Amino acid sequence: MKTTAPPPDRAGSGPLCILGLESSCDETAAAVVAGGERIMSNVISSQVQIHAAYGGVVPEIASRRHLEQINLIIEQALDQAGLTLRELDALAVSSGPGLVGALLVGVSTAKALAYAARLPLIAVNHVEAHLYANYLTGAGLRYPLVALIASGGHSSLLLLPEPDVITALGQTRDDAAGETFDKVARAMGLGYPGGPQIDSLAAQGSATAIEFPRASLGEEGRFDFSFSGLKSAVINHLHHQRRKGEADNPADLAASFQEALVGALVEKTVAAAAEHSAACVLLAGGVAANSRLRALLRQELLQALPGVPLYYPPPALCTDNAAMIAAAAFPLYRRGIFAPLNLNASASLVPGETTQINR
Ligand code: KG4
Ligand code: ZN
Repeated sequence: MKTTAPPPDRAGSGPLCILGLESSCDETAAAVVAGGERIMSNVISSQVQIHAAYGGVVPEIASRRHLEQINLIIEQALDQAGLTLRELDALAVSSGPGLVGALLVGVSTAKALAYAARLPLIAVNHVEAHLYANYLTGAGLRYPLVALIASGGHSSLLLLPEPDVITALGQTRDDAAGETFDKVARAMGLGYPGGPQIDSLAAQGSATAIEFPRASLGEEGRFDFSFSGLKSAVINHLHHQRRKGEADNPADLAASFQEALVGALVEKTVAAAAEHSAACVLLAGGVAANSRLRALLRQELLQALPGVPLYYPPPALCTDNAAMIAAAAFPLYRRGIFAPLNLNASASLVPGETTQINR
């Protein structure tokens, strides 16, 4: 199957404009980005309220809602950017990882539009795309760069020795950071998504009130994460307290749990930055919105590696959005990496794994 590469006459003047689509989990999003860094529109329809009633994302409901929303969101994104489909240079879509039924809505829509408008199609790895949210904020990134991507589905430490060359240093062996926040919040009777709830509750509590375990993964797994032991420890602690008819101050519990999780993320990120002589450190993904993670990482970097700057996107670009999908597509466009029209979604792509595939 041929790829959807642009005809030579499309490589015209002016900044490239790419429409990005995102539907990997519970946000339906479309955005137009010019030149890889200027957001012309960024429209997001969140399903959080719908899934909150169930305490987590219900995959079939997510897919059906994407199906209802996606054309309306694309229309709004094009209107706000003042462009028609045919004035775009390419279409980019998040093709994995994520919920496969949800991904398929974005992938099918992108393929149909690319075919109808004769636009090149670019498949983007959703986890890598979180990193590219930092390219939309005007930060002067320097290399080698170490990035921590912590989201609802993934926790990865990445090394970029040079722009757009991504290697994975480590990742989660079980629960992702955001998933752990959500599950602990659920056990505490807080709403979904749990991360923001725990973040604000923790601000009123003591981080040293309860000591929770931190996983040690040995030398080989020194840049991997494991949060299932921490999650079980918090849930067991809650059960134990309830059996005894006792209850911790919820703010202390939230702060102590958050400190254990964020502490592990920070420790490994700083160690990776030191080992790879990072010139800057990036934070991305939904958990990058966490106030304690931002503060502790800044503080520890300053102490261990003074002069190495830390960048993170504003909260709206930390959680799922399509501007990051469009931004991540630019280097692929420049390198001539386009997807075929038989592109499929892939539930389990890891960072660095190619997306321009059918499998
Ligand atoms: O990146 P994202 O929007 O979706 C995925 O790609 O998974 O991340 C969503 C995750 C959720 O688990 C949510 O609880 C978490 O990010 N999150 C936070 C905060 N804001 C969102 N976790 C901790 N603190 C926050 N302030
Ligand atoms: Zn995400």
